[in-house]
Amino acid sequence: MKLKMSALCAALVAVTCFAGVAEAAKIGVSMPTQSLQRWNQDGSNMKAMLEQAGHTVDLQYAGDNDIPTQVNQIENMIAAGNEVIVIASIDGSALTEVLKGAKEKNIPVIAYDRLIMNSDAVSYYATFDNTKVGKIQGQYIADALDLENQKEPLNIELFTGPTDDNNVNFFWGGAMSVLQPYIDSGKLVVKSGQTTKEQCATLNWNLEEAQKRMENLISSVSYGPEDTPLAAVLTQNDALANGVTNALLATGYDQTNMPVITGQDCDKPAVKNIVRGYQSMSVFKDTRTLAQQVVKMVNAIVNGEKVEVNDTTTYDNGTGIIPSYLCEPVAATKDNYKSLLIDSGYYKADEI
Ligand code: BGC
Repeated sequence: MKLKMSALCAALVAVTCFAGVAEAAKIGVSMPTQSLQRWNQDGSNMKAMLEQAGHTVDLQYAGDNDIPTQVNQIENMIAAGNEVIVIASIDGSALTEVLKGAKEKNIPVIAYDRLIMNSDAVSYYATFDNTKVGKIQGQYIADALDLENQKEPLNIELFTGPTDDNNVNFFWGGAMSVLQPYIDSGKLVVKSGQTTKEQCATLNWNLEEAQKRMENLISSVSYGPEDTPLAAVLTQNDALANGVTNALLATGYDQTNMPVITGQDCDKPAVKNIVRGYQSMSVFKDTRTLAQQVVKMVNAIVNGEKVEVNDTTTYDNGTGIIPSYLCEPVAATKDNYKSLLIDSGYYKADEI
């Protein structure tokens, strides 16, 4: 009995501490799509943590990246009297109008993972250090190809997400801060000539689009294990990496001669491909950490307390700097995925 009571007390203390003794509130959470694993995790982690803190949660997914659906859902969240709204936007510039309603009603908006542009309704931004994500990808390629000591030029192709996702600019900036000097000095060659962010963009981060573009590059440049060598493909996330990998496998590449391929998110198919030697790395962004940080922000707002941020210089959304909290991204490879993903409880061993 004594043991039971102390366990109960400990549980109560834990819940109270975690909840930050928040006032209960109605919280709207708008997510872009259920077609990518990460947004399902982000949504369900946040819902569970917000509910644990005593809030009521209205979690909505905008079909498959459907902008009008997201606008509609946010409009309804505002009308339904949600007291804070958390939004992972599809198109960072498409919410200016609808968020005027939030501003009028003094409903604080937290931009989740992606910055919402051109709206003064955005109070805070929580994300991963997006420039660092790009730098990790670029540096991985530079190290894996030992570019510092390479004598012969090596071929690379570049794949980004859609330019309406503000993160893409930061991923690109980070990666190119490492790779551009090698392209300028001729150590890296982009044979397709497609070197601008716009030329390398992939609509909606779509796997099939990336696969199609890689197939086109393979035929136009004649990349292949017995043909024009391809040393690396910078891809900004795991969906793009998956599409690129499919195209390369179909051309005869295998784990013995696959180019260096980067990714982001550590989604399950990507981690499986890393283990099989089809993809070189991913960037792990622990969605539990981001969700937890946003729950802290929500609780502080609801309680009228100071909101914790760690960056007040980087993210200007066109109406001024948005106070931000940046979580740390980490490189994941065959060598460390077990400790990062399995030991930390992110995945069970049999899921990989
Ligand atoms: C996120 C990535 C994600 C991508 C596609 C980006 O804004 O930061 O983690 O892979 O969107 O959904």
